[in-house]
Order: sequence, then C-alpha cells, then structure tokens
Amino acid sequence: MAERVEIFEVGPRDGLQNEPRNIPATEKVALIDLLSTAGFRRIEVASFVSPKWVPQMADGAEVLAAIKRVPGVSYAALTPNLRGYAGAKAAKADEIAIFASASEGFSRANLNASIAQSLERFAEVAGAARDDGMRMRGYVSCVTDCPFDGEITPDAVARVVAALRDLGAYEISLGDTIGRGLPERMNVMLGAVLDEMPAEQLAGHFHDTAGRALENVEVALGRGLRVFDGAVGGLGGCPYAPGAAGNVGTEALDAHVRGLGYVTGLDVAVVAQAAQMARELRGAHA
Ligand code: HMG
Ligand code: MG
Repeated sequence: MAERVEIFEVGPRDGLQNEPRNIPATEKVALIDLLSTAGFRRIEVASFVSPKWVPQMADGAEVLAAIKRVPGVSYAALTPNLRGYAGAKAAKADEIAIFASASEGFSRANLNASIAQSLERFAEVAGAARDDGMRMRGYVSCVTDCPFDGEITPDAVARVVAALRDLGAYEISLGDTIGRGLPERMNVMLGAVLDEMPAEQLAGHFHDTAGRALENVEVALGRGLRVFDGAVGGLGGCPYAPGAAGNVGTEALDAHVRGLGYVTGLDVAVVAQAAQMARELRGAHA
C-alpha cells in the first residue's frame, strides 16, 4: 500500500500574514472554509501576535469564530506568549504553535527576544497548554540560513529542537524561513536534528525563494519525514525575514509527492480552487 504524506496547510496564516492589502476576515473565512473541504487534517488559520507587529493577523478571533469547522480538522494558531495563548484558547483554536529560531538575528527581529528569552516565554505557554490539554506544535526558523546571521550550524538547530521537544511539542516543523536552503546542507542539518527527535515527529516547512523547496522535500523524505507544510497558491513569507518568498505551494507539493508514489488524501480540484482563491485574495488575479 502506498505510504502517506500529510500536507499541513499554513496558507491562511503564513500565506496571508505578509500581504500588504488589508484582507477582510470574511475573505479569510471563505478560503479556510474551502480548504476545510479539501482533505487536510490540520490548517493553520490565525496568529495571536501583537497587531502592531503583524496587522494582517489582528482578526484571528473573528476568523476562528466564523469558520465552519469540519469534524476531524484541527484549526491551529500561532502563539508568541501567554497573552497570545489566552487569545487562541478563548477563540477555541484546536491546537497552538510556538515558534522559535535557530538564529539569534531572526529571533530578535521576529520576537524582540534572544533565543533564550523566547524559550522562557514559550515555557510559560507550554505550561498553560499542558494544564489545558491543548496540543502544541513547535517551529524552528532559519534551519539552514538566516537573513541576518548567514549560515546556521546544524548543532544550533538541534539545540532548539531539543528545547521545544522538552517543552512538550508533539511535532516540530523545521523552517527554511528565507527559502535559500541548499539540499546538501538541509541533509546535514536533518542528520543533527534526528539525534534529538524522531522523523515521525518532524515536519518540513520550506519557503521557496530559490526554487529548491521540492528538492528539500525529497531530501527530508529520504530522512523519513512525512509531514510538510504548504501554502495554497505559494503565497506569503515572513514580514521579519527580508527577501523571503512564499511557502512551497500546496498544489505543487501535492503533485510532487504523488508523483513520487505517496498518498496525500487531498482533493486536487478543491486544492486548485483554493490556490486560485488565495491568489485572488492577494489581488494578483493570476
Ligand atoms: P514586543 O514589542 O517586545 O512586546 O513584541 P511587548 O510586550 O512590548 O508588546 C508590544 C505591544 O503588543 C503591546 O501593546 C502589547 O500589549 C501587545 P501596547 O501596550 O504597546 O499597546 N502584545 C500583544 N497583543 C496581542 N497579542 C499578543 C501580544 N503580545 C504583546 N500576543 C512580541 C514581542 C512577541 C509580542 C512580538 O514580537 C510579536 O508579536 N511577534 C510575532 C511576529 C510574527 O508573528 N511573525 C510571523 C510569524 S513567524 C513565521 O512566519 C515563521 C514561521 O512561518 C516558520 C518559518 O518560516 O521559519 C512560523
Ligand atoms: Mg514560514
């Protein structure tokens, strides 16, 4: 029987957070409602971060209140601190994600904190999540390259992975935040990370600036990873990672892994429709 690969849809969060146009909550909800019918098990739909930092995500509570929740789909939200956690919990997010960086430069730019300070904040969030029985995912950004610090060592990534594991993250998503990771370096990084966390609890989160995200997916598949984050329409980027392009497009990722013989369980026609809708939200009308 064909092996399964899960695509974790992050478009409504990572795809839209970087858009300059103020996208109304109703349009976000329409995209999420369509995505909910595509066969995803997990969709990241909101961030409970400072609206001063990411204005596009300020309406997370409104979005979570308005979506039509499909049983079996987990609706996820990013939480940078306890305040964000309280917001996500009140809005009935099904799971949360904490997001650290393997590089000091990006940690400061994205969270206004050193890696160590950010982990202290995340420990508070993790404690609250544990008490509430809330599922918590972790991200590590800049797993090969940082827009500020340059190349990142595999050891630095493995250390942060271990820290998030110890905080109770059920899965850790490895972010090539600026989409410049070379497959050879991705492979070495994965070797170091796998000493800390098994492949079944790791995911790949590859932005596609240099057009090598799918090659990096293949490297990660070779290392045993079976979960990859994608954004319909390939939208997005991080406002605090200069020059970063969008995530690998879900539709391209789906086609690629199917071509390699994996099953994703996604409805190709619905994913294509959602990709078109996502591009229109941006105003690109591609
Ligand atoms: P700060 O300025 O150091 O914190 O930001 P602060 O405590 O001084 O707060 C500043 C203001 O924000 C205050 O408001 C707080 O109340 C408010 P004021 O008193 O000035 O009116 N505030 C909040 N409001 C709502 N919700 C909250 C919250 N917290 C504070 N949770 C902080 C520190 C962490 C808040 C800020 O740096 C932040 O929000 N950062 C998030 C940046 C972000 O969302 N980046 C994009 C997501 S990460 C990403 O895309 C990478 C990823 O995709 C993986 C990859 O690709 O690698 C996940
Ligand atoms: Mg990202």
